[in-house]
Amino acid sequence: MDVLWAALLGYLCGSIPFGLILARLAGLGDVRKIGSGNIGATNVLRTGNKAVAAATLLLDLAKGFVAVLLAAHLLTGPSEMPGAILGPAPVAAVFAVIGHCFPVWLGFKGGKGVATNAGVSLGLAWPIGLAYALVWLGVLAASRISSLAGMSAVVAAAIVAAVLGYAAYVPALVLIALIVLWLHRENLKRLANGTEPKVGSKE
Ligand code: G3P
Repeated sequence: MDVLWAALLGYLCGSIPFGLILARLAGLGDVRKIGSGNIGATNVLRTGNKAVAAATLLLDLAKGFVAVLLAAHLLTGPSEMPGAILGPAPVAAVFAVIGHCFPVWLGFKGGKGVATNAGVSLGLAWPIGLAYALVWLGVLAASRISSLAGMSAVVAAAIVAAVLGYAAYVPALVLIALIVLWLHRENLKRLANGTEPKVGSKE
């Protein structure tokens, strides 16, 4: 039963559309009508307001982190393999990302999950979160392409979890990676033909 509560908790936290809310509060309009139409920080940055984009990034990250920590501390569940893959923390992790990407409040059209998965990864285990941040920032610094950096970090989190022995979290992080990659399918096409915009461009 606690697994269902973890799913609900994760979804409710993840589905708060901070990018949309903050952009509206700042008078920047509906972020879904500009750029890629995404509600994440990368698209909020296309409004030209760096502070609101940074706040979106932090809050989208924080909601994933809080969802996992709340589930881990408030709910009980299996802690031994193989049942641990359905423990409160990994279940809340998956549903926080699902909530961000498919928020019921916005007709199930939300973001692409990169920032929320950063918070989720940190909440599951700090070494996974650290690896996520290093890959994300490293690829971003090298390429200046947000989608490439985000996808690299999402895939790295699943690999690092497996390598470091966080076996109970691997299925959740693999599932999240599949969702995030699927949501980036248009970005992947643009990356393949060399037309994916760099961070800060208005496209
Ligand atoms: O985190 C979202 C990013 O990976 C891509 O965003 O708006 O360029 O499709 P966008």
